Amino acid sequence: MLAENFDEIIEKRRSNRRFDPEVKVPDEVIKRSLERAILSPNSSNMQLWEFYWIKSQEEKEKYTAFCLGQSAAKTAQQIVVFVTRKDLWAKHAKWNLDRLKQGITGEPNKLQKRGLDYYGKLMPLAYRSDWFGFFAFVRRMISFFGGLTKPFYRMGGKADQRVTVHKSCALAAQTFMLSIAAEGFESCPMEGFDEKRVKQALNLPCGAEINMIIAVGKGTPEGVWGPRFRIPYEEVVFER
Ligand SMILES: Cc1cc2nc3c(=O)[nH]c(=O)nc-3n(C[C@H](O)[C@H](O)[C@H](O)COP(=O)(O)O)c2cc1C
Repeated sequence: MLAENFDEIIEKRRSNRRFDPEVKVPDEVIKRSLERAILSPNSSNMQLWEFYWIKSQEEKEKYTAFCLGQSAAKTAQQIVVFVTRKDLWAKHAKWNLDRLKQGITGEPNKLQKRGLDYYGKLMPLAYRSDWFGFFAFVRRMISFFGGLTKPFYRMGGKADQRVTVHKSCALAAQTFMLSIAAEGFESCPMEGFDEKRVKQALNLPCGAEINMIIAVGKGTPEGVWGPRFRIPYEEVVFER
């Protein structure tokens, strides 16, 4: 039953690029969907993401231009910008650390000690960066020597950190879109936008990046560009 409902949601979620101007999307739908998105799995529970809900008509018009005039943005009733914030790693590591500490009374047990080390030592090691690439070099050396004789988590430079935060943010975006479908509306994820202008408009620091922008509305049949095609299962799924 649960799987059947899920199948229905998966079938229903299509990228729709033309929304019905007559049908409003209630704010509660977006709020509930963002609340669900926040529950998405994310790397180390660091939650290095932010969600900018573009509400005012004036702002929405700006985003149509930022999204290069795409019809999904132009006709959207609601727009949400999904942002990665790898620059907030220290704050979020501390947040996790503080939450762990709150649950510890007396001497920490083995699991608690591991948690304290994880957020107190491993996260700084994984996320710290500098202009000269010193920390990236240290991480690569640790990974190289640690991985010589046994499987080892491979840490790297800024590009690897960016991949990590974008993975988690995209999962949140997917939860959001599935939720929108479950609520009876349609969405369109967009990466066709002017990132520089979006970042400026949101007043974001250079460490932040735009993951995707999602347009939401009541979809129309013309908004779906055709049947859903996928490369066959056998060509993309490999059993070993
Ligand atoms: C990261 C990402 C970026 C996308 N960017 C755009 C976009 O800028 N404009 C657009 O019309 N569709 C965009 N799409 C939608 C894809 O074209 C669409 O998901 C794909 O064709 C499969 O169709 P479906 O979503 O209906 O299953 C994007 C999808 C993803 C996941």
